[in-house]
Amino acid sequence: MAQLTILRYPDPRLHTVARPVAAVDERIRALAASMLETMYAESGVGLAATQVDVHERLIVMDTSDSRDQPLVLINPEIVWASDELAVAEEGCLSVPQVYDKIERHARVKVRALDRDGQPFEIDAEGLSAVCVQHEMDHLRGKVFVEYLSGLKRDRIRTKMLKRTRDEQRARA
Ligand code: NI
Repeated sequence: MAQLTILRYPDPRLHTVARPVAAVDERIRALAASMLETMYAESGVGLAATQVDVHERLIVMDTSDSRDQPLVLINPEIVWASDELAVAEEGCLSVPQVYDKIERHARVKVRALDRDGQPFEIDAEGLSAVCVQHEMDHLRGKVFVEYLSGLKRDRIRTKMLKRTRDEQRARA
């Protein structure tokens, strides 16, 4: 396992549409393990392969308080979504220190393959519903700030570019 580098908004690679995982093999299991390690190290609740520049349909999550309930979803599909919507504050490891309220389905049922390639379903609500919809957006090249107004998004883009520049200068 190894910690992976997370792409930062507005990196254009975050807008890549992921292709399905063709085979759940050792390469995919190693990638999932490294993504979980990276997610825990960065104190995130979810991470999509897109964010580590791998454009295949794979996400990892852990929304438990105890941080010991890792979930790997390969080729996830939403098979049901509630009409009821809910607003929650979201953040993203690709957009550090930016949080804003986003409206999504309050509950979703998601079908995916696990690490052994076996199909399973989860009924998600609360934080896990927010997280799975947020991570699945990454797989279609969508970052949560794209739900915000153009003005807010421009401010975030400018802030991120400046922060990355400052960090690079500090390292030089
Ligand atoms: Ni994210």
